[in-house]
Amino acid sequence: MTATALPPGSPAAVDLQVTLGRLQLPNPVLVASGTFGYAREMERLVDLSRLGGILPKTVTRQARPGNAPWRTVETPSGMLNAIGLDNDGIDAFLAHHLPYLASRQTPIIVSVAGRSAEEFVEMAAMVGDTEGAAAVELNISCPNVSHGVDFGVNPALCEKLVADCRAACRLPIIAKLTPNVTSIAEIAKAAEAGGADAISLINTVQGMAIDWKRKKPILGNVIGGLSGPAIKPIALRCVFQAAQAVKTPLIGIGGIATVDDVMEFIVAGASAVQLGTVNFYNPTVSMSVLDALPAAIASLGAKSVTEVVGSLQLKRN
Ligand SMILES: Cc1cc2nc3c(=O)[nH]c(=O)nc-3n(C[C@H](O)[C@H](O)[C@H](O)COP(=O)(O)O)c2cc1C
Repeated sequence: MTATALPPGSPAAVDLQVTLGRLQLPNPVLVASGTFGYAREMERLVDLSRLGGILPKTVTRQARPGNAPWRTVETPSGMLNAIGLDNDGIDAFLAHHLPYLASRQTPIIVSVAGRSAEEFVEMAAMVGDTEGAAAVELNISCPNVSHGVDFGVNPALCEKLVADCRAACRLPIIAKLTPNVTSIAEIAKAAEAGGADAISLINTVQGMAIDWKRKKPILGNVIGGLSGPAIKPIALRCVFQAAQAVKTPLIGIGGIATVDDVMEFIVAGASAVQLGTVNFYNPTVSMSVLDALPAAIASLGAKSVTEVVGSLQLKRN
């Protein structure tokens, strides 16, 4: 052993890098779209350059005001939201937000949502034609806009959309799936067949809140998306089922709040994770998770994240 070599099992020796198709990330801890603003809001709390990647709020072709209030409701171990993709549109995003994000020395994965396949393809091409992004995430799973999930529930539409976006854009393509389907495996296979570099899952679980005294729904949009620790078992199940169905690298999302949660998703088959709702109530969580991750990996006798991905043992003994 040379003077600088680290002993096996040492957290400092753990390789955190992950490869998702054509996308290389310095570590597997990313922050989820819609829960981290455009990162400016978080820069005084989080060392952005340490993150494995940042997913800014989904952008649409035209600016959108979003849904009428209320847009969020706290629920046991989670929250419901129906923001409705409130954003300034892709032209403003590329001109004003992407230059700042790109200067943070962290991979920026631009989340886009189109009203049609043409809009998805056009936006993927626009992001690819602009300097600054590392990849594009196709938000084919937003439950809070009309037609927001069509591409995420229909395997044929999903496959074609991913393939068309891939053909139109030089950057790696990630498909973000909704859990609100009968078979997550079928949609994951479709995203794989379309050539997705990675599949991220899950977006929010459809839910609702009611003010019975007024006999009214609480959310302006009536139906919303449930997120936070309440949905972690659903997300873990989805990652597990997708991992059984495809070879495409997976990014686990849903209720992740601690390093133990991160490890559960990696063991289930995720190569990386995105932290979402937890950023609202523990904004520095990504830093503490990153601090603890090497020791968690090393405790399994592994020297890299990759070694642990999908290491779940199903046989009882
Ligand atoms: C307030 C709020 C806004 C969100 N906005 C978006 C969005 O714009 N695009 C997107 O793909 N997902 C969006 N999501 C979904 C999250 O990225 C994530 O997939 C989901 O919340 C599950 O992860 P979590 O339980 O860790 O929050 C949003 C979630 C919340 C709570």
